[in-house]
Amino acid sequence: MIGIAVLGAGRIGKIHAVNAATNPDARLIAVADPFAEACGPLAAQHGAEAMTDPMAAIARDDVDAVVIGTPTDTHIGLLTRAVELGKAVLCEKPIDLDIGKSAEAAAKVEALKGRVMLAFNRRFDPTFAEVRRAIDAGKIGAVRQVVISSRDPGMPPEGYVKSSGGLFRDMTIHDLDMARWLLGEEPVSVTAMASRVVDPALVERYDDYDTAMVILQTASGKQAHINNCREAVYGYDQRIEVLGETGMLSHDNLRPTTMRLTTAYMTDAQQPLLNFFLERYTAAYRAEMDAFVAALAGGTPLPTTAADGVQALRLAEAALESVRSGKTVSV
Ligand SMILES: NC(=O)c1ccc[n+]([C@@H]2O[C@H](COP(=O)([O-])OP(=O)(O)OC[C@H]3O[C@@H](n4cnc5c(N)ncnc54)[C@H](O)[C@@H]3O)[C@@H](O)[C@H]2O)c1
Repeated sequence: MIGIAVLGAGRIGKIHAVNAATNPDARLIAVADPFAEACGPLAAQHGAEAMTDPMAAIARDDVDAVVIGTPTDTHIGLLTRAVELGKAVLCEKPIDLDIGKSAEAAAKVEALKGRVMLAFNRRFDPTFAEVRRAIDAGKIGAVRQVVISSRDPGMPPEGYVKSSGGLFRDMTIHDLDMARWLLGEEPVSVTAMASRVVDPALVERYDDYDTAMVILQTASGKQAHINNCREAVYGYDQRIEVLGETGMLSHDNLRPTTMRLTTAYMTDAQQPLLNFFLERYTAAYRAEMDAFVAALAGGTPLPTTAADGVQALRLAEAALESVRSGKTVSV
């Protein structure tokens, strides 16, 4: 049994806690959050111990692995301590908003031979994972282009925009990781455009954007095109399309059911899309935790690494640089 402590009892911590507690090869030992009112109920719900000192939770002898679901600016301190104590880590994205600090932390993990998995949950989504398996099975031949549409249902609140690190480091980072993963090759150039059309006053206040397109190209000429917008009135839009030499892979957005309504006035109307990431990616978060625990229990490599976190952030930085300079940026 892998003993797990979940650090942070907020939105994502709650998801990780239930998935750790229900994994047959893991035991949720503790939920740590400086706010007792946050960790208390969550720990009680899963029969774990509530702790207000996350460092003490990491140091427990019965904790083999920690899940970091705390605010981004606390990740490196917790991650480093866990690795120093020989604990495995599942760390939420991004490692940090600063690329230098993130690279330094990843180098330290490497030097200490730490076991760190970056929580790029979309790789574990059953549909996206099936797309990747189909690519690996040669169903579309060599990949040529990846198109990712990733749109939020609505603008986040001002407090979130203020501390998010901006559209590219916060939102696009998931899609940049997906693009790397589906292309199977590292992008070497990044061209991006970004604008303020959803809530111009709000995003301008934080020198941010709400709408962006990013184009990536690898050394062999494979391309990826990412579409992001902070608002899509029809809901959380998550689609990918992969063009290969002998075919294409694509899929539909997910809905609660596959029911279609056809009347005299409308045909094939469907229910709204699963709205927002906690609903759309429920299965992905579960599979992500299962993959983490399985790798630890089986002594196999973790499916993602701290280096993946650094590389996605490097591409996000390049996209921002491209927007500001109006030029293609080499990475
Ligand atoms: N992979 C994803 O899909 C996804 C989705 C949402 C958030 N995230 C990431 O997860 C992280 C947390 O986001 P959230 O939306 O859950 O935030 P949140 O504000 O809902 O929760 C964070 C919790 O951490 C607690 N906390 C603060 N400092 C702490 C510390 N030092 N030790 C332990 N707990 C501490 C806070 O009290 C709070 O309860 C962020 O890095 C975010 O980018 C990832």
